[in-house]
Amino acid sequence: MEPVHTWTEDGLCWIEIHRPEKLNALDRATLAALARAVREGSAREGVRVLLLTGAGEQAFAAGADIAEMAVQDAAGIRALMDLGKETTRLLESAPQPAIAVVNGYALGGGCELALACDLVLASDRAQFGLPEVDLGVLPGWGGTQRLERRVGYGRARQMVLTGRRIPAPLALEWGLCEALVPAESLRDEAAKLARELAAKDPGALAAAMRALHAASALPLEEGLRLETELFVELFQRPEREAAVERFLQKRR
Ligand code: COA
Repeated sequence: MEPVHTWTEDGLCWIEIHRPEKLNALDRATLAALARAVREGSAREGVRVLLLTGAGEQAFAAGADIAEMAVQDAAGIRALMDLGKETTRLLESAPQPAIAVVNGYALGGGCELALACDLVLASDRAQFGLPEVDLGVLPGWGGTQRLERRVGYGRARQMVLTGRRIPAPLALEWGLCEALVPAESLRDEAAKLARELAAKDPGALAAAMRALHAASALPLEEGLRLETELFVELFQRPEREAAVERFLQKRR
């Protein structure tokens, strides 16, 4: 059985972590298949949005596979951290928006995958958490770096130091997700959001995501310079001229 299922319809590329009997825990094979799926999906002609979700009703992903992790030596664990970092970077740097569709537990590496997506849509049954300290380690797929950028100093410390699980309503309040929907309609709502994004100018979206990511990676002056460069580049394209013309036509 393939540990990651993918399908593409109308420009939406769905990537489903498929190991429901283990709450979609990410062993090396699953993580490698996920990295491959994100790389291939984001490079595929016509793909406008990536949607990442988990199989079954319980979990998005319950983190790295603890049993597999337990038997690693230092080199093995470093390779697993590198692979997790590569996967989150692929999601973050994809030219299309990536939406995490969180259908249940998003714990440890599962939470870190969601943090690497541009938008997070969660079911009212979702729970987010970084419980690694309870296993004697720390989040290793970017959680210590991306969480604070998303939810701020104190909330990041509360999550990482206590390992507590954050239920859906609190996750929404904290900004771990942008919206909550009933579990039954999660995929429909995610597809609706994705179609809204898919209808937009992909060049403008890709540039906007580059600039948004730069906000946490570059000093302000450099980020502002990049924003201007991207604006001027976008401005010179025929797509921009056509979009402005459409706007003006409606008002004539
Ligand atoms: N790694 C490996 N296996 C995992 C797993 C993980 N991260 N999370 C869940 N599983 C497996 C369980 O071992 C169990 O397998 P089994 O039936 O073969 O024994 C199956 O998934 C179901 O999990 P179970 O614990 O029985 O479900 P639950 O509903 O009682 O509890 C959780 C759900 C999510 C609270 C619990 O599974 C959990 O705490 N998982 C670990 C979360 C974690 O610490 N993640 C960070 C890893 S670094």
